[in-house]
Amino acid sequence: MGRPCLVLLLPLVVGLDFGYHHTKEMEAFLKEVHKNYPSTTHLYSIGKSVEGRDLWVLALGRFPTQHKIGIPEFKYVANMHGDESVGRELMLHLIEFLVTNDQHDPVITRLIDNTRIHILPSMNPDGFEATTQFDCFPPYGRYNANMQDLNRNFPDVFDSNNATVQPETQAVMDWIKNEMFVLSANLHGGSLVASYPFDNGNSVTITSDDISRTLDNDIFMHLARTYASNHAIMYEGTPCHNGDDFPEGITNGHAWYRLKGGMQDYNYIWGQCFEITLELSCCQYPPKEELPSFWNDNKIALIEYIKQVHLGVKGRVLDTHGKPIPDVIVEATGRRHVCPYKTHRNGEYYLLLLPGSYTLNATIPGFLSLLHDVYIPNGTANFSALQHDFIFPSKKPARIEPASCPTKPLYSRDYHKSTSATLKPPVNTLIFIYILYEVFR
Ligand SMILES: *[C@@H]1O[C@H](CO)[C@@H](O)[C@H](O)[C@H]1NC(C)=O
Ligand SMILES: *[C@@H]1O[C@H](CO)[C@@H](O)[C@H](O)[C@H]1NC(C)=O
Ligand SMILES: *[C@@H]1O[C@H](CO)[C@@H](O)[C@H](O)[C@H]1NC(C)=O
Ligand SMILES: *[C@@H]1O[C@H](CO)[C@@H](O)[C@H](O)[C@H]1NC(C)=O
Ligand SMILES: [Zn+2]
Repeated sequence: MGRPCLVLLLPLVVGLDFGYHHTKEMEAFLKEVHKNYPSTTHLYSIGKSVEGRDLWVLALGRFPTQHKIGIPEFKYVANMHGDESVGRELMLHLIEFLVTNDQHDPVITRLIDNTRIHILPSMNPDGFEATTQFDCFPPYGRYNANMQDLNRNFPDVFDSNNATVQPETQAVMDWIKNEMFVLSANLHGGSLVASYPFDNGNSVTITSDDISRTLDNDIFMHLARTYASNHAIMYEGTPCHNGDDFPEGITNGHAWYRLKGGMQDYNYIWGQCFEITLELSCCQYPPKEELPSFWNDNKIALIEYIKQVHLGVKGRVLDTHGKPIPDVIVEATGRRHVCPYKTHRNGEYYLLLLPGSYTLNATIPGFLSLLHDVYIPNGTANFSALQHDFIFPSKKPARIEPASCPTKPLYSRDYHKSTSATLKPPVNTLIFIYILYEVFR
């Protein structure tokens, strides 16, 4: 896009300072924003931390309190590691930026017209409050109050995760289940890079370059590049002088270091939501004087990343009477997900895909598959993915087999074989399958 142009008319200013906002100040700010912008914001709590602090989310949109058909849901989650505090403040400044530029800046206005944006500035408020000193690597605060690392606390399809699910984790899992998020980012600190799934993997997903690839690798690389290339310096790749070297400022999570129970893999596998992890500061808890430059470095990237929720295709699955059909598997051929991506209760689906030609496969298990060829344009400039509906014949079997979501194994050798036998996947998928074949010989 063009950069959001400067505001001509001075909007109602909320007046957020550059400093660290502790629980009380953050709550006061969020409540003030909601009071000043009641029709475009919705403030809600998704649950409480171990020590009883609310996990506040501010949602922005023309219909902020509810989902509307065709309007995709987006989320940012910050401060999951309580001592990684830059993201928390960036989220508050992003909220201020969005509400004050709405109706003044055409890009922001269209973004809010066409997107519902949820912002959770702190997933680990207890950890943030436990961090007492500004320090690049504070001794306390990463974990929640039960000393659990929340980014190792999610169910994991590759290795069983025995960690007790924490209240903060459960709140986010319930949130993902209740909303229909399409795109997300998880904001951290300690490096400067955009990292994409998988973080974990098995012998099928991990290739000799140590990358653990999803079948949506092209999209994930595009998403990570979008953030890094719109950031002031992330794309340069070696900013922290700690030996990390990230060409283009992006990395596959597993290729960087393997981790189990992470949030981005969970979102992609169980949440039907593409999530990447953004490391936004070399220093985890830098002095507050540096916050203005962090905001300037990230502002454009934060907006450009939200726009990517409009890539791909969206629509509804209906019967001939126009009645929505939930639980229909809708995926692009060659891109089966571990847990099949299915229509929501109102028959809606969203698929993030780069511009190009695809065959979409809408399947009612045990009944019928509809295969539609579509050409997908670049929807980000238009703030809308391609709209494409499926109409199923009304005569359905009495009982529809629900699509199962395997807990394991996933990506077996057969999984890829069956994929390659029945489909004409794009060339990069063929190369991937070939690499897998080589690995298994
Ligand atoms: C975790 O659970 C699995 C079985 O689900 C078990 O094999 C493994 O030993 C457990 N690991 C730990 C660290 O308890
Ligand atoms: C369509 O999707 C269903 C469900 O995932 C799958 O069983 C079927 O093989 C797919 N058909 C084609 C032609 O890819
Ligand atoms: C979509 O178009 C914009 C320009 O409007 C461009 O910057 C962006 O890279 C394009 N996205 C894709 C996925 O091609
Ligand atoms: C913009 O999106 C609408 C659907 O909302 C579509 O009909 C139209 O063709 C799109 N325009 C471009 C330039 O992609
Ligand atoms: Zn972190």
